[in-house]
Amino acid sequence: MTAKIIDGKEFAATVRAKVAIHVARLKEEHGITPGLAVVLVGQDAASEVYVRNKNKSTVEVGMNSYEHKLPADTSEADLLALIDNLNNDPAVHGILCQLPLPDHLNEELVINSIIPAKDVDGFHISNVGLLATGQKSMVPCTPLGCLMMLRDHHGSLSGLNAVVVGRSNIVGKPMAALLLKDSCTVTIAHSRTKNIEALCRSADILVAAVGRPEMITSDWIGEGATVIDVGINRIPAPERGEGKNRLVGDVHFASAVEKAGAITPVPGGVGPMTIACLLANAVTACCRANGLDEPEGLTA
Ligand code: GUN
Repeated sequence: MTAKIIDGKEFAATVRAKVAIHVARLKEEHGITPGLAVVLVGQDAASEVYVRNKNKSTVEVGMNSYEHKLPADTSEADLLALIDNLNNDPAVHGILCQLPLPDHLNEELVINSIIPAKDVDGFHISNVGLLATGQKSMVPCTPLGCLMMLRDHHGSLSGLNAVVVGRSNIVGKPMAALLLKDSCTVTIAHSRTKNIEALCRSADILVAAVGRPEMITSDWIGEGATVIDVGINRIPAPERGEGKNRLVGDVHFASAVEKAGAITPVPGGVGPMTIACLLANAVTACCRANGLDEPEGLTA
C-alpha cells in the first residue's frame, strides 16, 4: 500500500482563506479588526524567522499585527509591563510571546501573565486545565492543526486507537487531550515506554512528536494507519553539498509511506498548519471577546 499524502501546505491555505473570510465579515458587519500581538525577546535566529512569518501571515488575512521586539537583556518587570498593556488593549485580541525566552526570564510566569482569553498559544495554565477537562479553551496551534487534518481525513475519530509519541506540554499532552475529546482511545508513549514499537503498530492514528530524526520506521506502523509527523529536524545532507542540511520528520518517510494509509510529509505537513491555526485562534479569541459566534471549523 502506498499512503495518501496529507498536504499540509494546501490544507493551511484553506484554513487561512476561511480565516480571511471571517476577518472580512468582522470588519464589514461589526467594524472590528482582529489584532494579534507577537512579542520577541532577544535575537534567536529561528525565532526571528518564525515571528516574521507570523506577522506576514497575520497581515495577509486582513488582521492587524503588532510586533514587539525587545532586547535580550529586557528585565522581567519590563516584559510583564508590556504584556499588561497588551492585556488591557482592546485592539489586541491575541498575544503570543515567542519561546524560548532568554534564561533570566521565567517562562511560566511570563506565559501565565497573558490573560487566558488572549492566550492564542493555549499555553496558559487555565487553558491547559480547561482543555484537560474537555471544556472550551484556547487550543495550542500545532495539535489543533493535527486534529483538523485528522478530522478531515477520517470524518469521525470516535473509537479509533490513537498513540501519541512524545509527552511535551506544547504538543504531546494537548494532542492526547484533543483526541480523547474526539472519543479516541488514547495512549501517550515516550522514551520509557515498554514495547513501544508494538504499541505504535496497534495504532489507527500515530502522532509522532519526539524531535528525533526519522526514529519511527515502517516497523512501527500498522498497515493502513494514519501517521501525523510533527517533527521538524535539520540533519546534515552532504549529498547536497558541503555544509548543507535537509529537513526530516520524526518518521522515516520513505519506508512509512509504503505501510501507512495516510501520512503527513516533512516539510509540507504539520508545519504550515501551525501558523494557520494561530490565525484561526486569533479570530476565535476576537469573536469570543465580542460575544459573537465562533468561526465554524476553526476551533477544536
Ligand atoms: N517557539 C516555537 N514554537 C512556538 C510556539 O508555538 N509558540 C510560541 N510562543 N513559541 C514557540
